Amino acid sequence: MGTLDGKGALVTGGSRGIGRAIVERLAADGATVMFSFRSDERAAEEVATGTGALAVRGDQGSAEDLRRLFAEAEKRLPSIDVLVNNAAEGGLAALADITEESFERVMAVNVRATLLAIQWAGRVMRDGGRIVNLSTVNTMVPAPGTMLYAGSKGAIEQFTKVAARELGGRGITVNTVSPGATDTDLLRSSNPPEALERSAAFTALGRLGRPDDVAAVVAFLAGPDGRWMTGQNLLASGGMLV
Ligand SMILES: NC(=O)c1ccc[n+]([C@@H]2O[C@H](COP(=O)([O-])OP(=O)(O)OC[C@H]3O[C@@H](n4cnc5c(N)ncnc54)[C@H](OP(=O)(O)O)[C@@H]3O)[C@@H](O)[C@H]2O)c1
Repeated sequence: MGTLDGKGALVTGGSRGIGRAIVERLAADGATVMFSFRSDERAAEEVATGTGALAVRGDQGSAEDLRRLFAEAEKRLPSIDVLVNNAAEGGLAALADITEESFERVMAVNVRATLLAIQWAGRVMRDGGRIVNLSTVNTMVPAPGTMLYAGSKGAIEQFTKVAARELGGRGITVNTVSPGATDTDLLRSSNPPEALERSAAFTALGRLGRPDDVAAVVAFLAGPDGRWMTGQNLLASGGMLV
């Protein structure tokens, strides 16, 4: 018996990194899982084959692609019980290098897509459902170059709190999970090796996070034991911030 037997879950950005680990974990816990991905078809196929999850290609920067994803989820999942807003654009750039285009892109992928997904879930989710939004410790550590990224994640953290109040009457919980440095393509492509060593040294548990470390926290919130937590931001950072 899995903790999510009979439940349907939608995970955005499930072909690689943390999203992939979340798909694997929720599927192992018994959920029927659908995930989105943007371009890496081979990675998506590998996850789908390994877990039995359903993969849907689409760019969540496009509202039309998102509507198609939601329609697929309604059609192919047994019910909508769990939504994990995981996919995001890094958008790292110094203040001077931010353009209108990069602003629009990061806000569309990270902020608008998360808002539309929560709005959709509020409409179709079964009572007692779970919404988990991925943020980052960068909202608490104001590092240079993270203005767009951390700004967009700050909006997501705020969405979590308001949605928790709006949807709580139906037993739906809404929480944020904020990973610290977690070993994924996104982390390695935006940091030199020395920075990763510094992050590990700065972390109480003495290493970088693994995607499945973060997936375990998401699974706790998505499962029955998470029922009394809502509107919270859980730091899944191995003690990078204490
Ligand atoms: N890694 C860290 O250290 C860290 C720390 C704090 C927070 N986070 C947060 O954790 C989440 C996952 O990060 P990650 O490191 O696992 O990222 P990642 O390794 O870059 O993986 C991103 C996943 O999302 C998909 N994706 C990206 N943009 C998309 C779009 N526009 N539409 C649809 N799918 C899209 C990718 O699909 P394709 O494979 O097709 O491109 C991929 O499956 C993000 O919200 C990130 O901000 C990560």
